Amino acid sequence: MAIVHALPDASAWTLDPDLAYLNHGGFGATPIPVLERQRELRAALEANPTGFLTRQLPGLLGLVRDRVAEFLRADPAGLAFTDNATTGTQTVIAQIGLAAGDEVLITDHSYPAVVEQVRRAAAATGAGVRVASVPIPAGGPAAVADAVLSELTERTRLVVVDHVASCSGMVFPVGQIAAGARARGVPILVDGAHATGMLDVDLGAIGADFWVGNLHKWVCAPKASAVLYAAPPWRDSLRPLVASHGTPAGFRPAFDWTGTRDPTALLAVPAALDFFGQAGWEAVRAHNNDLARAGAELVAARVGTTTPEADGLAAAMRLVRLPEPLTEPAARALETRLLERHGVVLPVTNHGGWQWLRLSAQLYNTLDDYRRLADALG
Ligand SMILES: Cc1ncc(COP(=O)(O)O)c(C=O)c1O
Repeated sequence: MAIVHALPDASAWTLDPDLAYLNHGGFGATPIPVLERQRELRAALEANPTGFLTRQLPGLLGLVRDRVAEFLRADPAGLAFTDNATTGTQTVIAQIGLAAGDEVLITDHSYPAVVEQVRRAAAATGAGVRVASVPIPAGGPAAVADAVLSELTERTRLVVVDHVASCSGMVFPVGQIAAGARARGVPILVDGAHATGMLDVDLGAIGADFWVGNLHKWVCAPKASAVLYAAPPWRDSLRPLVASHGTPAGFRPAFDWTGTRDPTALLAVPAALDFFGQAGWEAVRAHNNDLARAGAELVAARVGTTTPEADGLAAAMRLVRLPEPLTEPAARALETRLLERHGVVLPVTNHGGWQWLRLSAQLYNTLDDYRRLADALG
């Protein structure tokens, strides 16, 4: 007989019970058992900092790498750790070797910090930036892949595409896009900041040159834990932006030590994988996807607009369109009003000339959280 575990609920988190916290996508939120594990690790580190950081850490990082590699179905030899997705994308963009006349292809869903990294690298080298437009609703995965791949030119030196976009929650068909880029000989960087944990990621099957993913968002590890995957041809040359003792020793040693820092967030990742693994990842994802859909439909019905993910491109973050376009200050004022008057935490995003409520769903949410948002808007 199969043992069915009840899914954890809000009692496993330390979130303020007065809030309807609908922004898991923003920064994640770490369950109590995982924070406890991090506390134990901190105590072990501070009992003998030298012993912990010089003798124990390399082996402990190896164990974490093996767990994460298994989780993402990746070759562990290509997995490096970074503090966050921002550091991972910058590491790749800075070293891809842009030259005058090259182009970097991004999309109009790209994360603003990544856009800034691309613009800076392009400005420094005389390269150009091309932006593929992916409408909402997009019309299905094939249409999204086509919208991106049709913008490749003979000048494209790098494609940067989201796995799950921040402004829209859209799940991009990254395997299809990577295959199309590969066929043209163009390297591809996938920004999987939200994908780790939200989706069942198979890095081997995706076949990107580079893939970056946070562990502190949808795996709910403590903050400042992320991975950067590089395909074999890049491992001889890609190095952290900060050189240190391990740099000459190769890809993994270089990333394993970039100076003294607190490694306990990373070392607590197995506890986070266990937390969700015991509940069952499939059940967690089904819960979050179903709740996000139901919540978005409820809110959209109340504000009289739509939630545009009928074409199968969404998971645990969904959009609801606001009835009228808002100015940037008005969008931020709406976020503030929802927080201060109604205790609702969520971002208002922009895409395609419209503003959107971006709703996340995690195990600690219930439909009442979305009802509170609907009541606040209605
Ligand atoms: C698509 C995307 N990329 C990158 C990031 C940056 O993540 P971090 O702040 O952990 O570096 C985010 C954060 O929300 C994101 O949504």
